Amino acid sequence: MRVIECSTRDEAAELVAGEILRALQAKPDLVLGLATGSTPVGVYERLVAAHCAGDADFSEVRTFNLDEYVGLSALHPQSYRTFMREHLFGSIQIQDHNVRFPPVDGFDLRAACEQYERAIVDAGGIDIQLLGIGSNGHIGFNEPTSSLASRTRVKTLTDKTLGDNARFYKEGEMQPELATTMGIGTILEAKRILLQSFGEKKADAIHAAVEGPISSFWPASALQLHPDTAIYVDAGSAARLTMRDYYRRVERNERGMSS
Ligand code: PGA
Repeated sequence: MRVIECSTRDEAAELVAGEILRALQAKPDLVLGLATGSTPVGVYERLVAAHCAGDADFSEVRTFNLDEYVGLSALHPQSYRTFMREHLFGSIQIQDHNVRFPPVDGFDLRAACEQYERAIVDAGGIDIQLLGIGSNGHIGFNEPTSSLASRTRVKTLTDKTLGDNARFYKEGEMQPELATTMGIGTILEAKRILLQSFGEKKADAIHAAVEGPISSFWPASALQLHPDTAIYVDAGSAARLTMRDYYRRVERNERGMSS
């Protein structure tokens, strides 16, 4: 697990977007696992800018989103389908049939979740998975105590997550308590994982994910089992890490070796 401390969110977004764009150059039909929330917005802005400048072609890219709320229509302002349309898909000329979200309605959700897993395998697996992290350590909507072997399924959101996301809902507006999410086992099968975390509110979660024991109580700690994960943090999210100097030294040496 590499920990890359950045001086600003913009620096992290620049590095992550740069990595995605390089991967896209090498593989035009790249398979991306995508996240929502405030964290990945800077990355999406840079992907859109690269597309508008004629530097990135998304026409063959396939995407799988991490999660979606059960009970919101695709057009609801808070649905993740709306979020992705507004922040990325509406601006990069991606093909509709190459965009997938976890199933949130229909007669047999369990079967539809299995189909989502099969679609990922049929696409050849996820090349790069983008992640944020919840202040309770969740990745996707894999809340604390989620099985580390879990697959795509419906989860009940914790009070902590509902509280963190309440800011997006108007007073009295229905906030969904259920979401379909890729499982931790699904996420761990991505070839490369790029997690970003900003702000001191996430410092405990980052500390537990990077330096704590592997535990379903801090779902992001499962990433310690993944062979190719990079964690981009700002100073706020890095505040509780005990080996910050070491991580900086590792990055200096990595840069030295690749230059
Ligand atoms: P945020 O959410 O990017 O809005 O902080 C991250 C998450 O809950 O996974």
